[in-house]
Amino acid sequence: MRILVLNAHPDQGSFSDAVAAAYVEGAGEMGHEVKSVMLRELQFDLVLRGGYHSNKPLEPDIAQQQELISWCQHLVVISPNWWWAAPALLKGYVDRVFLPEFAMRYHARFPYVEPLLRGRSARVIYTQNSPRLVGWLFRGDLFWRWISHAVLGHCGFHPVRRLAMYGAKDASAACKSHFLDSARKLGRGGA
Ligand SMILES: Cc1cc2nc3c(=O)[nH]c(=O)nc-3n(C[C@H](O)[C@H](O)[C@H](O)COP(=O)(O)O)c2cc1C
Repeated sequence: MRILVLNAHPDQGSFSDAVAAAYVEGAGEMGHEVKSVMLRELQFDLVLRGGYHSNKPLEPDIAQQQELISWCQHLVVISPNWWWAAPALLKGYVDRVFLPEFAMRYHARFPYVEPLLRGRSARVIYTQNSPRLVGWLFRGDLFWRWISHAVLGHCGFHPVRRLAMYGAKDASAACKSHFLDSARKLGRGGA
């Protein structure tokens, strides 16, 4: 399995870094071909300027991300949940990389959207402080719905699955170790 792992946490040494490392380690053990990207290390303007009408050439790092996404069979997005949404780094990445004619094509007639990244699956691993019920009941599971339906599903990824790590910030060492084991196990399975 060709796996692309995107780590969207802005800080080095974050728990997301440990999660990404565990996933990559597990995938490597089973001989999957894995490429990892730290979004914070990419050189690109986070803001999509001129919408979809800009003629400006893509920065090399953006063009390379499109190549990597085309290359992969399975995409893994690792991110904290901030404000029930994506950190700006991940939102900017989506705005800049998942462009029309690469990720989707829009048509004037029904069904209006043609996903261009079909044939790939995805896994979203995210950390948040709140318990599952709070996010689901009071915030409509917003981060998950956005990334799974509005972004990845919209562009053709299927299935899109999640591993949510609730209460991640203040989790006990045992709980964090359990989270890391879960990520490693998913890596082994290329899932
Ligand atoms: C700017 C910011 C916004 C956050 N918003 C939320 C939130 O809306 N819901 C939530 O459950 N946790 C929220 N958190 C907590 C983070 O999700 C949590 O600290 C993180 O997932 C733990 O991973 P880390 O230690 O690698 O940063 C927020 C944290 C920050 C810094």
